Amino acid sequence: MIEAVKKQDATILVIFGAVGDLGKRKLGPAVYNLFLDNWLPDNFILLGVSHHEQDDNSFKKIMKESIDEFSRNGKVDEQRWEKFSQCLKYFRADFTDKKSIDDLHEEINTIEKGWNKSANRIFYLSVSPRFVDTISKNLSESGAASDKKKARIIVEKPFGRDLNSAKELNKSLTKCFDESQIYRIDHYLGKETVQNILAFRFANSIFEPLWNRNYIESVQITVAENVGVEHRGNYYDTSGALRDMIQNHLLQLLCMVAMEPPITYIADDIRNRKVDVLNAIRKYTQAEVDKFAVRGQYSKGVIKGKEVVGYRESPRVDPESNTETFVALKLSIDNWRWKGVPFYLRTGKSMGNKTSSITIEFKPVSHQLFPCNISHMSSSNLLTINIQPEMGIKLNFQAKEPGLEMLVKPVEMSFDYSNSYEQEPPEAYETLLLDVMEGDATLFMRADEVESAWSLIMPILKNWENNKAGNFPNYEAGSWGPKEAHDLLKANGHKWMIDSTFK
Ligand code: BG6
Repeated sequence: MIEAVKKQDATILVIFGAVGDLGKRKLGPAVYNLFLDNWLPDNFILLGVSHHEQDDNSFKKIMKESIDEFSRNGKVDEQRWEKFSQCLKYFRADFTDKKSIDDLHEEINTIEKGWNKSANRIFYLSVSPRFVDTISKNLSESGAASDKKKARIIVEKPFGRDLNSAKELNKSLTKCFDESQIYRIDHYLGKETVQNILAFRFANSIFEPLWNRNYIESVQITVAENVGVEHRGNYYDTSGALRDMIQNHLLQLLCMVAMEPPITYIADDIRNRKVDVLNAIRKYTQAEVDKFAVRGQYSKGVIKGKEVVGYRESPRVDPESNTETFVALKLSIDNWRWKGVPFYLRTGKSMGNKTSSITIEFKPVSHQLFPCNISHMSSSNLLTINIQPEMGIKLNFQAKEPGLEMLVKPVEMSFDYSNSYEQEPPEAYETLLLDVMEGDATLFMRADEVESAWSLIMPILKNWENNKAGNFPNYEAGSWGPKEAHDLLKANGHKWMIDSTFK
């Protein structure tokens, strides 16, 4: 199937906002790496679109500098670049002007005529959310995306800022495009280790029998960043961690862990099972929020030995901001498999370490035979799926410590990508772009999935918007979040597993 794409399906990838931050850091390097690995079809053009006055050459120069700086393969190879740069073209357009988009359509037709074949047309909207509606209407009216099989549109997050705006956006997109043409990005789904969760669960027979309320005590998902808001204060201060991370990345990780086995590995089978999970998560009332959700905001502190400023002191952030940079949640999934198993989710900026991982804590043995070395915090079996920067899976189990006494102690069995494979895994955006070229929507979010995720967090959003946090800032940069996040688990006799690893 992939060979077929490479050899037959001519592709024009139109990136709106190609010279923006995402275009430079991720998209340009991803396309170049696909080229290096020979995934691009023979007839391929990356058409960069923005409102800047520039020509093909200056666009190529920007792309080259960005690839040099951000590509996982390091600086460009001059010989390969020579060939790749022939695929790069620039088109200046005013996104809001219908005539500009008509001209873009003409340009696409001209490229196709030159090839003497029609191409897949992929429109990547790497633009501020306020342009999405207008661009998609203009594209639709121009006829540039009228072939439902060949034209696809990629929409970046944030997908709306609450349930209503997400519904509006879905409505207006589906007026212009068929749902099968729309690819809503959540880049976490493109990560190798996230896709591996499905392989781990459904390509092995030994774990699935244990994957339920009878054997699992709790599930913890942590996505911690050790950078602050940096230069994104403008966006972040109107968003916050709940919208920026929980609504999408963390809920997607939860779905991968909790979903029922799909019948096939095709997009809608997988997405149906994920929506089932989202719909089974208990929705809290606004009044219950304080019991199950914790918010935090970082003050100044020290990360990796360097002093860093607090959130409110960051550029383009309101000095009295009420925006949360940390969230911890306790969620319950009301279905047969998971009833009674708490799912703890936690994410934050400016934390003690950068780590994304999922810990499955199994139930302790029903009767403890052996004296346990009390210095070890947990006698439960732990399965840790490391998403990044460590990539792999670890299983902790008890073993007898060598010696004359019968003492047991946790030991670790581990699988690590870097030790197991020679090739470096592709970046998420490489995987996702190639999937769109192939028309495979498995790793993209369907309209109902996005809406279900929003409806789940709406009571929390509303409660937090209506009630200012009285204690912000409440965690120091470089720490593991506010004390309340630890208390949230303590109430059930649990504790976060990850920070004890990094203390
Ligand atoms: C983005 C968020 O979606 O994900 C950022 O907007 C966050 O705030 C980023 O930093 C994290 O992605 P990754 O791949 O670095 O974990």
